[in-house]
Amino acid sequence: MNEEFIIIDHSNLTDEYLDIIINLKKQHWNHPYDSQKKWIYDNLCPDDFHLLLKIDGVYAAYMSICNIDVTIDGNSFVAKGLGNVCVDLTFQKKGLGKRIVEKANEIITRDEDAGILLCHSHLVPFYQRCGWFDVQYKSAYIGDNKYDDIVMMYNLNVKYPIVKMTLNRSF
Ligand SMILES: CC(C)(COP(=O)(O)OP(=O)(O)OC[C@H]1O[C@@H](n2cnc3c(N)ncnc32)[C@H](O)[C@@H]1OP(=O)(O)O)[C@@H](O)C(=O)NCCC(=O)NCCS
Repeated sequence: MNEEFIIIDHSNLTDEYLDIIINLKKQHWNHPYDSQKKWIYDNLCPDDFHLLLKIDGVYAAYMSICNIDVTIDGNSFVAKGLGNVCVDLTFQKKGLGKRIVEKANEIITRDEDAGILLCHSHLVPFYQRCGWFDVQYKSAYIGDNKYDDIVMMYNLNVKYPIVKMTLNRSF
């Protein structure tokens, strides 16, 4: 099995890669092409990037990686925010979701960053198997909007209790 990771700066995203990404995303989030495209351009910034995993020449998994300003009880830092993590339906449950998250972990560790992601509770076991942990908090905000689902992090020593966590944007 030949495995290849492709990193694309959002500022250099071509129409060809945009089509590949939307083709993977729409298998899981069923929105029309134009709405997918709008979401990507509305929510990613030029210095964010896209990560694709190609298996034997076929695009099998995708995620976006965004620079997120995080404040936890007054301490601010920039974390890499994983979003849109998805695996082509025909490739699921073969370890590829884990492989692409592990590649992101490598990038986070290399850059001495922390990782952050938002998910629903049923995905906690998956991300735990990828080395992430779920963060307990009293209140969390994305911009001015209250958030009350799961926050997971990687490569950060969290000091509990977390009273207030703020992320500057959704991703
Ligand atoms: C979630 C997703 C990325 C997992 O990818 P995958 O390639 O099927 O998962 P893997 O085969 O790499 O699984 C790795 C491990 O996590 C476990 N796992 C995977 N999905 C799981 C789930 N939904 N619940 C619990 N455990 C799960 C696997 O059993 C495996 O465990 P093991 O290491 O003990 O064998 C994939 O199912 C997907 O694309 N889902 C739809 C999109 C989505 O919801 N993305 C998340 C956005 S936050």
